[in-house]
Amino acid sequence: MSTIVQTPKNLFEIMTLGCRFVHLRIKGGFLNHMMKRLISGFSTCVASSLLCLLLSFSVQAQEIPTDAAAISAGEALFNGNCKSCHRVKTKLIGPALAGVETRVPSIEWVFNWVRNPAKVIASGDEYANKIYNEYNKSQMTAFTSYTNEQILSILAYVKAEAAKPDAAPVAAAGGAATGSGGGVPTAYLDAILVGMIIILVLLVVILALIVNALRKFLDQKELSEEDREIVNSPITLSSISSSPGFIFLVVFIVGTIAFKSVIDGLYSIGVQQNYQPKQPIAFSHKIHAGQYEIECKYCHTGANKGKQASIPAINICMNCHSQIKQGTITGEGEIAKIYAAAGFDPATSTYSGKTKPVEWVRIHNLPDLAYFNHAQHVNVGGIVCQTCHGPIQEMDVVKQYLLLTMGWCIDCHRKTDINSKGNAYYDKLIELHNSKKAMKVEDIGGLECAKCHY
Ligand code: HEC
Ligand code: HEC
Ligand code: HEC
Ligand code: HEC
Ligand code: HEC
Ligand code: HEC
Repeated sequence: MSTIVQTPKNLFEIMTLGCRFVHLRIKGGFLNHMMKRLISGFSTCVASSLLCLLLSFSVQAQEIPTDAAAISAGEALFNGNCKSCHRVKTKLIGPALAGVETRVPSIEWVFNWVRNPAKVIASGDEYANKIYNEYNKSQMTAFTSYTNEQILSILAYVKAEAAKPDAAPVAAAGGAATGSGGGVPTAYLDAILVGMIIILVLLVVILALIVNALRKFLDQKELSEEDREIVNSPITLSSISSSPGFIFLVVFIVGTIAFKSVIDGLYSIGVQQNYQPKQPIAFSHKIHAGQYEIECKYCHTGANKGKQASIPAINICMNCHSQIKQGTITGEGEIAKIYAAAGFDPATSTYSGKTKPVEWVRIHNLPDLAYFNHAQHVNVGGIVCQTCHGPIQEMDVVKQYLLLTMGWCIDCHRKTDINSKGNAYYDKLIELHNSKKAMKVEDIGGLECAKCHY
């Protein structure tokens, strides 16, 4: 026992001392063995409960389920009650519900809204009033009896539908859906969390009882001066915070959090879904491609011809904006930026020759190791832009709509028939394969590593 040099001051060390004492005094070591088991069992328990507690806290946020059961339940509810006014991808009496979870203030907001839209509007909620006015003050029906689970299942269905490419309904490419995992219902997690807290509290009480009993036991024994001091030392906040046990716990918690964020980070390498940077000119696809129905390829001239769809040069803007000098929304301000870039004087309609490039912020960007070709997909494959980029014509500010991970590419290649009509090359190929069945992209080598990797 003389090996204890410093004066330990905390409960962990009292317990260790208890063990040692018992070990020295009681031959056979049974009690000692039991105590050690008890204490090591206890610390593992605390550690693992804390770990679970931490992990479960991070999934506490209301999550839209992705499991098939929830989605089909949502489909039934949606078709029965919402479809008269809402579609997933197009406006009807109410807004298109695709992507609604990213627009609304919170999932909680959707719960309140669906159960009682009038109340949310009356509460002065900014977003509710905004859409209410946008939809000419038409009143949505209240679904007072809907539970959170039911509403989440509707959102799950909407999300799954929204992720399906428009062109090929067979390709239920879970673009958006593949990103978010975990189908454990929230109620279940709540129960686990509460259970865990109860267990933790119980453990603390048991610990206190053990320490107390040990103290009493040790008190009756003859101890050296040093050891008696240990037994009688009070447990204070500072003694706890300087104890190895406490430091271990802190390091453990910090370590766990760091570990979890590293894992989360790894899962989302290169994933920039919903990336929506502010652009140097407030160019709106909603106005140009939506309202004025300008063809995508009028501006993105590369999409039919090559790898890059390309961002239009400023003189393409000038084709129209040498005439259109004012916007209804932003007035002259934003269009003036076009003139500054083109070196154009709108008063005299002359070019000074002093141009400067517009520094558009790139949104979609695969890592360098991957090769993607627009012409192959748009021109040869006949896939519409929106399948991969979402409803760009409704976006004021463009965002990355889908995942663009390798799994997303592969998924579509597995499911999509190649567009062989009128393509002599494929007609021959199909003949060669001697089958009448349509060929998938994977059959022409669309899953070979080297096709997509340099
Ligand atoms: C009688 C027509 C009607 C029905 C039925 C209806 N809605 Fe609506 N909904 C609207 C209208 C209109 C709006 C736009 C706001 C407004 O004017 O109140 C809206 C807005 C919403 C919004 C906000 C959308 C956004 O873009 O932010 C959500 C979410 C929503 N509805 C969900 C549902 C769900 C879920 C159902 C079925 C359970 C449903 N609605 C049934 C008419 C309806
Ligand atoms: C009048 C010209 C014009 C038209 C028409 C147009 N775009 Fe664009 N597009 C732009 C400009 C300018 C940018 C860069 C600024 C931005 O991101 O808003 C851009 C950006 C994009 C981006 C993001 C590029 C990136 O950085 O990753 C996509 C995707 C896109 N457009 C798709 C479309 C689709 C799909 C259509 C047709 C529905 C379309 N565009 C129609 C001019 C146009
Ligand atoms: C084919 C014609 C055409 C082309 C090309 C075009 N625009 Fe426009 N643009 C319009 C029209 C039409 C409006 C709507 C004016 C209005 O609001 O009345 C407009 C409006 C705008 C506005 C103001 C929006 C508002 O209401 O405040 C901006 C900014 C703008 N365009 C930027 C661009 C940029 C940048 C490009 C080049 C990438 C471009 N436009 C190319 C036709 C065009
Ligand atoms: C099969 C999916 C797919 C289709 C269809 C598609 N894109 Fe893309 N698009 C992508 C991917 C993936 C990227 C990122 C490419 C990269 O980083 O190399 C991208 C990037 C872009 C960019 C950014 C700059 C560039 O040139 O790479 C623009 C602009 C763009 N797409 C416009 C369009 C337009 C317009 C269409 C329709 C004519 C279209 N895309 C169709 C998947 C697609
Ligand atoms: C919406 C479905 C879809 C998505 C998403 C998609 N592709 Fe494709 N891809 C196709 C189709 C269809 C073809 C066949 C076109 C043709 O007829 O040659 C194809 C062909 C290809 C080919 C040529 C294959 C061959 O053997 O000739 C490459 C390479 C390719 N895609 C790369 C990619 C990459 C990289 C991504 C992801 C960034 C991607 N694709 C995402 C549908 C898709
Ligand atoms: C249809 C196109 C396609 C095919 C086929 C494909 N990949 Fe990929 N791969 C991609 C794209 C796109 C990315 C980048 C996506 C991202 O950032 O998540 C990627 C990323 C990767 C990465 C991750 C690199 C990193 O930095 O994280 C590895 C490793 C990889 N691919 C290996 C392979 C192997 C091995 C094969 C053959 C079995 C293969 N790929 C076939 C499109 C493809």
